[in-house]
Amino acid sequence: MTRRQVLVFRELPADQLARLQAVHEVTVANPRKPEQRDAFFAALPAAQGLIGSSYPIDAGILAQAASLQVVSSISVGIDNYDTAELQRRGIMLCHTPGVLTETTADTIFALVIATSRRLIELATHLRDGHWTRNIDESLFGWDVHGKRLGIVGFGRIGQALARRAALGFGMPVLYHNTREVALPELAGKARHVGLEQLLAEADIVVLTLPLTENTRGLIDAEKLSAMKPGAILVNGSRGAIVDEAALLASLDAGHLRAAGLDVFAVEPLPLDSPLRRHPRVTALPHIGSATHETRHAMAVLATSNLLQALAGERPAAVAVG
Ligand code: DGY
Repeated sequence: MTRRQVLVFRELPADQLARLQAVHEVTVANPRKPEQRDAFFAALPAAQGLIGSSYPIDAGILAQAASLQVVSSISVGIDNYDTAELQRRGIMLCHTPGVLTETTADTIFALVIATSRRLIELATHLRDGHWTRNIDESLFGWDVHGKRLGIVGFGRIGQALARRAALGFGMPVLYHNTREVALPELAGKARHVGLEQLLAEADIVVLTLPLTENTRGLIDAEKLSAMKPGAILVNGSRGAIVDEAALLASLDAGHLRAAGLDVFAVEPLPLDSPLRRHPRVTALPHIGSATHETRHAMAVLATSNLLQALAGERPAAVAVG
């Protein structure tokens, strides 16, 4: 097989890099690192395959990638890619669904518990030396079990979250999705409803839907004010789905009780963002899939996708093409 030019734009584990190097000419250059930026742009015109994540592969980048045949993203989300341009050029885009579902659902459920039970706030209270007598009511949290969970977007991750909530914590689940999903194990425990009803009835609203032009800014001031007073919002999908200024205003006005956020409109979250220090925001640095096991599984799937596509085979997980 002809050795192809592969550009790795975010570090791969050594074993996966070796799989690529065994059959192709590989350049590793992460454009987010100032010292590797020039090497990335120098390798781009000859690259036939790209593999990486967390960097926008937009029309400007694609215009410089004249030889490109396939892009393999080490992510399930594909909002960093100009899919229309990829389609127009006949460039395949692969991604990594499935392997991160359970881990991401774990992270989101951790945020449900952390916000309801005020875990970070109370751990900080202890760490800062304030636990000098039994805590009083002002530091109590709110139950998670039995609360009504609203899941906006009911793909793999939303369904995994519903199983945790309904089967593990006795939570009635409402979900909003483009179509009803029949899951025998959740029969009678998860109900397909309109977004308006979900927002009005859920105690905790979780977002697990992809970022598209239809979902950008979906949770705006109006939707936030349609949520139950004292409800909690958890976002484990993409930050740009929520109007962050409106979210802060709702928290400050005392309408929403708390927010748990793993994703932000701008990442890394700017140092001066009020979301960093807000007392009722639990903010995580986009760790949805960030475990050793899952990040490795994602790298294996992305590497296999790229190798298969460059060999002329149909990869397991094609998003475009
Ligand atoms: C994904 O896979 O899309 C996760 O959010 C990591 O970027």
